[in-house]
Amino acid sequence: MDLAKTVILTGDRPTGPLHLGHYTGALANRVRLQSQCRTYVLIADLQALTDNSDRPEIVSQAVWEVLLDNLAVGLDPEQVTFVLQSGVPELAELTQLYLNLVTLAKLQRNPTVKEEMREKGYGANVPAGFLCYPVSQAADITGFKADLVPVGEDQLPVVEQTREIVRRFNSIYGETLVMSEAMMPAVGARLPGTDGRAKMGASLANAINLSDPPGVVREKVMSMYTDPTRKRATDPGHVEGNPVFAYLDAFDPDQDRVSDLKAAYRAGRVGDVAVKEHLAEVLVDFLEPIRERRTWRERRRDELRDILFSGTAQGRQVVARTLEKALAAVGLPAVADKQAASISEVV
Ligand code: TRP
Repeated sequence: MDLAKTVILTGDRPTGPLHLGHYTGALANRVRLQSQCRTYVLIADLQALTDNSDRPEIVSQAVWEVLLDNLAVGLDPEQVTFVLQSGVPELAELTQLYLNLVTLAKLQRNPTVKEEMREKGYGANVPAGFLCYPVSQAADITGFKADLVPVGEDQLPVVEQTREIVRRFNSIYGETLVMSEAMMPAVGARLPGTDGRAKMGASLANAINLSDPPGVVREKVMSMYTDPTRKRATDPGHVEGNPVFAYLDAFDPDQDRVSDLKAAYRAGRVGDVAVKEHLAEVLVDFLEPIRERRTWRERRRDELRDILFSGTAQGRQVVARTLEKALAAVGLPAVADKQAASISEVV
């Protein structure tokens, strides 16, 4: 694959601050790929609203937090185009076209959606918009003609749904949409929560946020889950399944030291507190430049607005072209464009 011509689309649901799990699962890949590929980052506010319709202020605030987090980890607005989903109404029209190509039964069987519905306790009262978010995400992905979609494992069924829609659309209406592929993060990219659960999540209250100040990071680390079988520092400890070591694997720049610590922990020669103190330092050091860039950006609100507004305008042009092609492929008379042109002549 010619990376320079490869289009990448990733997206975040703005529902709160991004955390270390987002970093290992998605952001690190974005930073790495930004100089090689054409990268769009979609801030999916309409998708975030599908399960927050009664709390829109959460979404509108988180839009700026998520943009700041992305810039803070080192995404360069000169290279990456940031797009606000609600600023591209053409995505909604693409969604409308695609909704006819999936069945209700299929959406209900989507493992990701199913799991999220279970977590939220929706049952039969799932908002239709939420059930259909994979279709709107298919519009995101195809609208930008994305070749690659870097996502965590949990989003694979959503990308697979996109691929099915593309296959169906192209076979009914002729070759029109770009077939995209999911790109998985490296093995071990999924970070456990501070409570030892398999996933770090804002709603699970087990996350260390990229914007957490040092004091909060230390506090969260010192109260982390470790090895429940270990009563004293002299007991042999378990490294596997111990989130403290998972974090050291992911963030300690000195991996030799991590190996030594693991050996000492297994042998019962180092206590939990000492390992945690070390991890707290590693994380505070890792987050320091991120915090600095964030503060720098926060002071430049006008530039922040410009980044999102100009990126959205640019993204909108791309999606509008895809929509035009899609409508033409379906064969609907292209009245809307001509009408818009004649209206602008009148007013
Ligand atoms: N569903 C994704 C998530 O939960 C967010 C998202 C929206 C997305 N649109 C996208 C991801 C397009 C990749 C491509 O994180």
